Amino acid sequence: MFVLVNLKTYPCDPVAVAEAVRDVNETTDARLAVAPQAAHLERVAETGVETWAQHVDPIDYGSNTGHALAESVAEAGAVGTLINHSEQRLKLADIDGSVQAARRADLETVVCANNPAQIGAAAALGPDAVAVEPPELIGTGTPVSQADPDVVEDAVNAAAGVDSEVSVLCGAGISTGDDVVAAGELGAEGVLLASGVAKADDPTAALEALVDPL
Ligand code: G3P
Repeated sequence: MFVLVNLKTYPCDPVAVAEAVRDVNETTDARLAVAPQAAHLERVAETGVETWAQHVDPIDYGSNTGHALAESVAEAGAVGTLINHSEQRLKLADIDGSVQAARRADLETVVCANNPAQIGAAAALGPDAVAVEPPELIGTGTPVSQADPDVVEDAVNAAAGVDSEVSVLCGAGISTGDDVVAAGELGAEGVLLASGVAKADDPTAALEALVDPL
């Protein structure tokens, strides 16, 4: 299972969480990675953890004040990027442009979507993976695998119907090892989570509990 920890703009210490993700990654067969804010990419990547960006824009080098250029994100140490997170929504054409920009910079891509129909559209753009996250469950602590298991299964089927090479992650409310196992049983190849680790008093313990049953 792929476990991608999104730090959003939570007031956690990004390097401390990155070190925890790096260390727990050593103890498990699961693949763990962290997505800090753009401003923290370099410091986080220096810890040796697998580092992801939270977003890249559909742009190339040039006149793009305030945008995130895929090449710069890669240079800062990211090996992958989220695109179209629920908190950073893009139009379909811009999702396509961001996937292409990420590919140009050799970044792995996870395109997020709200529901199975959007997952199908996202999969058609040829990312490495898609992630279904019902927005109403984000940050609630109620896992999508429990509150709405059909949405995960339907997302897996929607992606497979479009492109069987695109893997499917799920996210929203995931905070325990049982949640990760349940996501896997529904066909997800990984999970995307944030508050369960970024807001934990002890991120290492939270991560250990997440991967313990895997
Ligand atoms: O990117 C993951 C995120 O949107 C889910 O957040 O806090 O419900 O794990 P959370």
